[in-house]
Amino acid sequence: MQRLLTDHKTITKTQLEDVAPAALEAGQARLKIDSFALTANNVTYAASGFAIGYWHFFPTGIEGQGLVPVWGTAQVVESDSPELSVGTRLYGFYPLAEELVITPAADGHGGFVDAVDHRAKLPPVYNRYTPVRAGAAADDHMRALLQPLLATSYLLFDWLMDNDCFGADQIIIGSASSKTGLGLCKYLAEKEDRTYKIVGLTSERNRAFVEGLGACDTVLTYDAVSELPVQPSVYVDMSGNAEVKANVHSTLGDALKHSSAVGISHWDQFAPQSKVEGVKPEFFFAPAQIEKRRGEWGPGVIEKQITAAWKRLAADAGSWLDVKVHDGIGEAAAVYGALADGSANPREGHIIDLK
Ligand SMILES: NC(=O)c1ccc[n+]([C@@H]2O[C@H](COP(=O)([O-])OP(=O)(O)OC[C@H]3O[C@@H](n4cnc5c(N)ncnc54)[C@H](OP(=O)(O)O)[C@@H]3O)[C@@H](O)[C@H]2O)c1
Repeated sequence: MQRLLTDHKTITKTQLEDVAPAALEAGQARLKIDSFALTANNVTYAASGFAIGYWHFFPTGIEGQGLVPVWGTAQVVESDSPELSVGTRLYGFYPLAEELVITPAADGHGGFVDAVDHRAKLPPVYNRYTPVRAGAAADDHMRALLQPLLATSYLLFDWLMDNDCFGADQIIIGSASSKTGLGLCKYLAEKEDRTYKIVGLTSERNRAFVEGLGACDTVLTYDAVSELPVQPSVYVDMSGNAEVKANVHSTLGDALKHSSAVGISHWDQFAPQSKVEGVKPEFFFAPAQIEKRRGEWGPGVIEKQITAAWKRLAADAGSWLDVKVHDGIGEAAAVYGALADGSANPREGHIIDLK
């Protein structure tokens, strides 16, 4: 079994390692990973590995070395658990490796959680595994690439509507070329009776891509933030770029009604302690919006909306996404490296296929 170790301190340093698979203990099941997606989100997992705790999901037993979590699909190839039979396919959170051993427990909703001790205190959303049918590999690829990101885009949209956009008539999206960012732009643009403008912020190299999405009223590059019209605004930031954030805050002053910190795609320009003018940026916690809607609408409603939302954009993906399938875990380091240094093309969605 091979896995890609990532250095905790220098997250661009990776190394493929061969490990002899351990024998299963009672109650465990071995999952062979079929395929997984790699996007800037996975680099963020590494960059915030200790601050948020992503290194704790899949410990390596090697000091200073971690396994970056990925979203993908795996198949049970060996089971010593009465809960899970061989052949079951599961979508969920996996290490950047060829296999994962879990301790499955039924979650009461047709799915499973990994009930291993070290995951008990970690956010439940990452411990859940959902059975999926064996179908076209392309379906696995699309789910792994889009579901985790566009679910957040849709929840951001729902949260903005729920809060009447904080009185803003301009929604500014930082890192608009990211899948999470473009998803939000697209959901905001879908609303027929909208009263707000959509402004996408991006880098010069990705500007044409964001313009081509056709979802933003205005596309500005990061060095043109001072051109933002001063009017009631919300900033939803997927970039985490401290300088850009400071410029957005100082340009808009009191007109900035809310500033939401969602991601750090510019992980090397992130400065969590830096001060900004005006409103204090608040971390967007997607599970809180899910819980709020469950309380208001009953279980299952927001989940159905999320599924319909990401599938709606997936159906149109030909116009904004090229899926690139890479063969084998040996390809993962280069793909991860390009995502980490920001040289990846935003139109591409990368899949590592291990079958
Ligand atoms: N809080 C949550 O619940 C949540 C959920 C989902 C995603 N997110 C976060 O949202 C962010 C976007 O993730 P994604 O997977 O959607 O990204 P993605 O599709 O892989 O987007 C890549 C884009 O990010 C920017 N970028 C990436 N690496 C960079 C670098 N080293 N330097 C400068 N720019 C870089 C570029 O956009 P620009 O040129 O447009 O800046 C690039 O086009 C991540 O930080 C992710 O963790 C958070």
